[in-house]
Amino acid sequence: MKEQIFIRNAMPSDLEAVIALDDTTPVAEKQAYWNGIFEHYVNCGHNGCHFLVAEISDKFVGFIVGEVRAWEFGSTPCGWVFALSVSSRHRKMGVGQRMFEEICKCLKAAGAAAIRTMVERDNKLTLSFFRNQGLSSGRYVELESSLVSAAKD
Ligand SMILES: CC(C)(COP(=O)(O)OP(=O)(O)OC[C@H]1O[C@@H](n2cnc3c(N)ncnc32)[C@H](O)[C@@H]1OP(=O)(O)O)[C@@H](O)C(=O)NCCC(=O)NCCS
Repeated sequence: MKEQIFIRNAMPSDLEAVIALDDTTPVAEKQAYWNGIFEHYVNCGHNGCHFLVAEISDKFVGFIVGEVRAWEFGSTPCGWVFALSVSSRHRKMGVGQRMFEEICKCLKAAGAAAIRTMVERDNKLTLSFFRNQGLSSGRYVELESSLVSAAKD
């Protein structure tokens, strides 16, 4: 039988579960990073900011965070998804997709006309996930340059 996935807004009490699940932020930075994110996206409830979590049988299994941003780089209001994770034991069960669909609804209701994210070029899993959700290369190109000088011999 397919397990029921329940999506809800994050609560302050989800902080430790989110930190435990996040495997992209360096360990030493995690507590401070997520404290700041919770302050802005959960505790203050700023307009257009959304932090959702997924549960299966009352157990925390994933989270997604995004917000509406407008006029940066001349862009009309669009939704940015900047954090997403599903527990390794609950992947490939549709949890990521359900959270993504739900946050798209929230961001659209908050005024976004498009959804954007950023993925490392060689992260095939995440690229495959977002492509499956209908995302493809957009009209903006990310440009970057190192600010750290190469070590001289
Ligand atoms: C990316 C991630 C969120 C996907 O979550 P998930 O709940 O497993 O995804 P879903 O079950 O909803 O899958 C939806 C679609 O994504 C794609 N997909 C998901 N996992 C995949 C995998 N291991 N390989 C290839 N495609 C995959 C498939 O197209 C899938 O559709 P299908 O099941 O019909 O084939 C999850 O793997 C994860 O948390 N990864 C580690 C953290 C991460 O990379 N986060 C994103 C960057 S911050």
